Amino acid sequence: MAFPTIQLLLCILWLSSEQMWEILRYCRANKLHMNIQNLIVTYLRALALLLSCVESLKPGHDSTTLNRSSFPAGFLFGAGSSAYQYEGAAHADGRKPSIWDTFVIENPEKIWDHSTGDVADEFYYLYKKDVGLMKEIGLDIFRFSISWPRVLPNGKISGGVNWKGVDFYNSLINQLLSNGIEPFVTLFHWDVPQALEDEYGGFLSSEIVNDFRDYADFCFQEFGDRVKYWVTLNEPNLFGKNGYATGSLAPGRCSNYIGNCTEGNSATEPYLVTHHLILSHATATNLYRQRYQASQKGTIGIIVGTIGEVPKYQTVSCMKASLRALDFGVGWILHPMTFGDYPKTMRYLVGNRLPNFTDEQSILVKGSLNFVGVNYYTARYVEDSNSNSSLLSYTTDSHVTYSTEKNGIPIGELIGPSWLYMYPRGLRDISLYIKKKYNLPIYITENGMADPNNISIPIDEALNDGKRIMYHQLHLSYLVQAIKKGVDVRGYSVWSLLDGFEWSYGYSVRFGFTYVDYSNGLKRYLKSSAFWYQNLLQKKNATMDDHSLLLFSM
Ligand SMILES: *[C@@H]1O[C@H](CO)[C@@H](O)[C@H](O)[C@H]1NC(C)=O
Ligand SMILES: *[C@@H]1O[C@H](CO)[C@@H](O)[C@H](O)[C@H]1NC(C)=O
Ligand SMILES: *[C@@H]1O[C@H](CO)[C@@H](O)[C@H](O)[C@H]1NC(C)=O
Ligand SMILES: *[C@@H]1O[C@H](CO)[C@@H](O)[C@H](O)[C@H]1NC(C)=O
Ligand SMILES: *[C@@H]1O[C@H](CO)[C@@H](O)[C@H](O)[C@H]1NC(C)=O
Ligand SMILES: *[C@@H]1O[C@H](CO)[C@@H](O)[C@H](O)[C@H]1NC(C)=O
Repeated sequence: MAFPTIQLLLCILWLSSEQMWEILRYCRANKLHMNIQNLIVTYLRALALLLSCVESLKPGHDSTTLNRSSFPAGFLFGAGSSAYQYEGAAHADGRKPSIWDTFVIENPEKIWDHSTGDVADEFYYLYKKDVGLMKEIGLDIFRFSISWPRVLPNGKISGGVNWKGVDFYNSLINQLLSNGIEPFVTLFHWDVPQALEDEYGGFLSSEIVNDFRDYADFCFQEFGDRVKYWVTLNEPNLFGKNGYATGSLAPGRCSNYIGNCTEGNSATEPYLVTHHLILSHATATNLYRQRYQASQKGTIGIIVGTIGEVPKYQTVSCMKASLRALDFGVGWILHPMTFGDYPKTMRYLVGNRLPNFTDEQSILVKGSLNFVGVNYYTARYVEDSNSNSSLLSYTTDSHVTYSTEKNGIPIGELIGPSWLYMYPRGLRDISLYIKKKYNLPIYITENGMADPNNISIPIDEALNDGKRIMYHQLHLSYLVQAIKKGVDVRGYSVWSLLDGFEWSYGYSVRFGFTYVDYSNGLKRYLKSSAFWYQNLLQKKNATMDDHSLLLFSM
């Protein structure tokens, strides 16, 4: 069938199974007050949903034949994880606490289900079976992070090495390689050793730069003979924002006019912490390049957290707001690493609160990336904010107002947790933006959606995750568009291999391609999405028809 007939049919089916119910419920709820105006609004809403659905399926031409050869040679497909979210064994075999172990105990109200990562998926004990699942799916790469306090419990080399922790990562790496899977390793995924937090405030202090360098040096030395893909830091921009501006994630610091924190300063600390993260990255990268890269033949980069920053209206002021939002997001990290200093907009708007780089630091930071990892989930409408409060914060410095709807129409379908509106073209747009502005090779290191964790849903029903398949299919289709427009995208790693501990959402959301039965020994079950991925990766045809069959058989 030719476009747009097939898209239209798919959308009508989809809408009738999903949104139409919602609209019907809405109509019924408003029955008594139904007037012509409401009817028109409801009709327009349905029409807009239909059109946006058809629009979102437009790259269906690509996706009807999406397979490995739709991507450049050597393109790597994978799945991601992180230490605190997966490993469990928080107090086992010599590991000491990170700021996350402390945060979940001291701020249970900041975790939706008041849970912790003490047990998580027990990946520390079950990794061999999980590597078996990865092999079954057919992954090229597996992204995991090394827990700094599992390897160096006191944060510093001088505080002693925990060899049992080192053994774990060696076994994991060997297990992956012997199954034909390349490790894609992050050194820091938010778990600062509590010892360093206690000693000098963690990333608030420039002292951490040398301790991070030593930790990285140790990892390159121990694991670098087999690890070819290194990431220094996961989402330093979000660590700065959530840990020190909103206080929603560890270490949970903020000003009292922004959030519920006992200490902090949302106007200064996010900038200071991110400055030290950038210097830590640059110092570790410099060391890798000087001592290891030639012999170990690996590549090293950083991962930024992104969202689609969509101008709410086609006005100059909205366009400018979108560019400012990008500068305060990815630009905060990538601008110094490409040009040696923060974006001009940040210098202008943050003023004296934004740290300076010395000439020497600027040279060290500039060019410190072999690639950038991009984490992308969702998008927001942005417009100019004309509020001018004397209560300063990183969260308001960009003078941008965010919203999820325009004229009552959401920016995309709300799926999973409250923040996740599906906006697949945003993945193409952020890739094009990074290419144009920073011209770096890109790995998509996270992209995914969550289902609610609801114990009254039987497992076999929960495994039928057609929506996740649609989510990834659409994002990959837009990624192919970016590649066709010349963006050097080298890989795509889904979030996530398993359901796990999702930070402030605890276990209340399930991002996995694999279901984890928390009430029955953490037993794993591959979801439909895992079989779809397997099909795509095994060079068979992953077609729109396959996915629609799954989707509509729900
Ligand atoms: C795989 O995708 C390519 C490019 O998208 C397409 O030309 C080719 O026909 C597809 N192969 C199969 C077997 O579907
Ligand atoms: C603020 O945090 C304290 C603990 O730090 C907690 O007891 C209290 O419930 C929190 N208040 C709100 C409104 O979340
Ligand atoms: C950065 O340098 C500028 C100009 O040299 C100076 O005005 C400003 O105070 C410095 N900022 C900080 C945070 O030291
Ligand atoms: C915000 O207010 C301050 C004084 O409180 C003023 O100096 C500044 O120019 C104002 N900025 C904008 C964008 O209105
Ligand atoms: C859990 O699922 C059941 C059955 O589908 C549903 O009735 C209930 O509303 C759900 N609960 C939550 C909290 O989503
Ligand atoms: C894949 O698509 C090609 C061309 O459309 C077809 O000939 C082949 O049978 C398909 N393979 C599978 C496994 O479905």
